[in-house]
Amino acid sequence: MTRPPEGPGQPGPSVPTVGRITVPELRAAPESGRRIVMLTAYDYPTARILDVAGVDVLLVGDSLGNNVLGYESTLPVTMDEMLHHTRAVSRAARRALVVGDMPYLSFQTGRRDAVRNAGRFLKEGGAAAVKIEGGRRRAGLVEALLDAEIPVMGHIGLTPQSVHLMGGYRVQGKRIDQARALVEDAVALERAGVFSLVLEGMPESVGRAISDAVAIPTIGIGAGRFCDGQVLVFHDLVGLGEGTPPKFARRYARIGDEIAAAVHRFVDDVRGGAFPSEAETYSVPEAIAAGKSGRT
Ligand code: KIV
Repeated sequence: MTRPPEGPGQPGPSVPTVGRITVPELRAAPESGRRIVMLTAYDYPTARILDVAGVDVLLVGDSLGNNVLGYESTLPVTMDEMLHHTRAVSRAARRALVVGDMPYLSFQTGRRDAVRNAGRFLKEGGAAAVKIEGGRRRAGLVEALLDAEIPVMGHIGLTPQSVHLMGGYRVQGKRIDQARALVEDAVALERAGVFSLVLEGMPESVGRAISDAVAIPTIGIGAGRFCDGQVLVFHDLVGLGEGTPPKFARRYARIGDEIAAAVHRFVDDVRGGAFPSEAETYSVPEAIAAGKSGRT
């Protein structure tokens, strides 16, 4: 498959600026040489900013659990939590495609559960598609979702819902047999009908081999430079997360530090009596304040 002619690091064609991005448009991105930009979003104001800034796909990721709800992993995240945040993001998105991430145990328990839960993302959450983690084992499930008119984004490699099976958040596909298995997973999911594929936490060579093996767009997160698009967790990009961001994440701002500095100043101003000032105070004419009616 031909990858974007410009090669890594070069600007590609600009994305359309009017109308909503659709699943077929996203699916066709590799042919047009258009690199897909995807970010996680969990709330209305952030989603508005990302949408206006030109992000193609807003992923309401189950990383909501770690980044917003204070869980240690994505495993505790529920369907109700996901839907609550998906609705907020959908209300904000005018142009970007909204994808809802199927949380742990919303699809692993059988096709019936999976179709019902995935359908809720479209029916109640306003999303246009769902994402599910896992390789060829999910092929039948992908077909069942498509039967119910639900577009599916796949996700292979380091899949956080498998954290205990993997023995931690480890880069996948380092051994040749594992790398081959990942390529086979990608091909099986493409055959089953996914319209795009997230590749997470794998050597660049494996990300490249998968991107060459499938015609659907690959969207990398820690999968190197040869994917058709890139996704980051918003909190890593703006420096809002706790701890050190992963090696693959580029920090474009330090919003967490900015917020801390602003709040420290507010604390000092309130304690020191500098807030509020007269300009930040409502007033009435002096006579009324003094209790006089003003009538003669
Ligand atoms: O939940 C999430 O943030 C994700 C991305 C890492 C792709 O699945």
